[in-house]
Amino acid sequence: EKGNHRHFMAKEIHEQPEVVGRTLAHYVDLANGRVALPEALPFDFKDLSRLSITACGTAYYAGLVAKYWFESLARLPVEIDVASEARYREPPLDKAGLTLVISQSGETADTLASLRYAKSQGQHTLAVVNVPTSTIAREASAVVPTLAGPEIGVASTKAFSCQLTVLLCLAIAAGRARGTLSAERERELVDALITVPGLMADATKLEGEIELLAREVSKARDVLYLGRGTSYPMALEGALKLKEISYIHAEGYAAGELKHGPIALIDESVPVIVIAPHDAIFEKTVSNMQEVAARGGRIILIGDAKGAAAAGLDTMATVTMPDLDPVVAPIVYAVPIQLIAYHTAVFMGKDVDQPRNLAKSVTVE
Ligand code: M6R
Repeated sequence: EKGNHRHFMAKEIHEQPEVVGRTLAHYVDLANGRVALPEALPFDFKDLSRLSITACGTAYYAGLVAKYWFESLARLPVEIDVASEARYREPPLDKAGLTLVISQSGETADTLASLRYAKSQGQHTLAVVNVPTSTIAREASAVVPTLAGPEIGVASTKAFSCQLTVLLCLAIAAGRARGTLSAERERELVDALITVPGLMADATKLEGEIELLAREVSKARDVLYLGRGTSYPMALEGALKLKEISYIHAEGYAAGELKHGPIALIDESVPVIVIAPHDAIFEKTVSNMQEVAARGGRIILIGDAKGAAAAGLDTMATVTMPDLDPVVAPIVYAVPIQLIAYHTAVFMGKDVDQPRNLAKSVTVE
């Protein structure tokens, strides 16, 4: 049931503080400030020389964020591809290596085929899945569930933030196992994770201003999303969310790629949504924003007060997010990204829960 909400998507966006909190409680030992996976995994992260990730759509973008986490926290090289490519490419996979698949439904045909291919190569398979009775959950050698509860809206929202939560916990566990993450840094990260549900609730309070902003976005024919580091996959996710429910053409780009082509698109008619928490690479993104501003582009900055002040740029709008540890930023920044897409589509009168041509689970190739 939708409760007080107009759409399942709205309900599911607003449920995130609760379901991310529930997922965290499952993966974090609060008393000792460390990640504690609910079940022992049938492999050891320290024996791996590489991790292969495969998934589709929004779940793939969660995997792309996780690539940054596994590489930085656990120094584990990650190879990631969309399942529809990975399954036919049949990449060489080490025997006893690890393939991680991510799926809300656990029924996506291409993701399932990639999982079966990995098994046929003698790999361990680990599935981050939301539906515990699904085919992928049954066939993977180990399952780390997301506890988002049933997701009805076709646009994935709460499953995505729960996927990110589980993946960050896995990357922390991998970092500990591989000796690349100190107990002190783990405690800091766990402290940051614990604040996430509250920060997400704070982010939902920006809804009124995002609703106004969405009216501007709805006038655009094209929208560009930019980000660096973990904000790059968030830019891809923002663009997917907007296009699938509002039918506005949107593209996500790595901010540094702007000058390699997409800058040609910039003029006053193309809103440029920049996702940029004040992290170690923030200044690099500021120079990209300057390039956009110099060409009359209208910037919508999703960042924090420190960043907005440091950038000192004229933006069309700034969505001011709370201060946080940049490692957890993607989980919290998912909220405004989803709200922008949601309110743009609602303002345009689109059917946000059942967008045209799309199905909730894609069980055909
Ligand atoms: O059930 P899955 O997570 O395997 O689904 C993967 C994609 O089909 C899904 O994320 C799709 O991209 C959503 N409509 C995105 O909002």
